[in-house]
Amino acid sequence: MALLEILEYPDPRLRTEAQPIARFDKALQKQIDDMFETMYQAPGIGLAATQVNYHHQLIVIDISDDQKSPLVLINPKIVKKEGVEEREEGCLSFPGVYAKVQRADRVTVEALDRNGQPFTLEADELLAVCIQHEIDHIEGRLFVDYLSPLKRERIKKKLKKLNKGR
Ligand code: NI
Repeated sequence: MALLEILEYPDPRLRTEAQPIARFDKALQKQIDDMFETMYQAPGIGLAATQVNYHHQLIVIDISDDQKSPLVLINPKIVKKEGVEEREEGCLSFPGVYAKVQRADRVTVEALDRNGQPFTLEADELLAVCIQHEIDHIEGRLFVDYLSPLKRERIKKKLKKLNKGR
């Protein structure tokens, strides 16, 4: 396995719309394993392929404390949304940035697993938020898009300063 480079805001490649996946070959399995390793090492609870400059509809998630509940979503589609909740979100493409975002509290998602088998998942609370956040990524959307332009500008400046210090 290998650690992948995570693109950071405002990298324009984060705005790429990912393509659906049709081939479930060895290369895809390696990409999935590398994304889990990268996410666990960061550490984070979700990583979208777009964030590692791989523009296909692939998401890895693990919201467990012991990193033992890996979830792979390929070509995911949210088919049902219910309720509203506001949660503080972070993102591996925005180191040190957290902001409250309003999202659906429960979602039903249809996706393929790492072998191409379809499944349906009902999620609520943190997992529901995480799924919506990651699906946004593969559609080129970012959690700061939900914030005011002023807040977004502040975050951009903060991250630019951080990058200069490296
Ligand atoms: Ni993110």
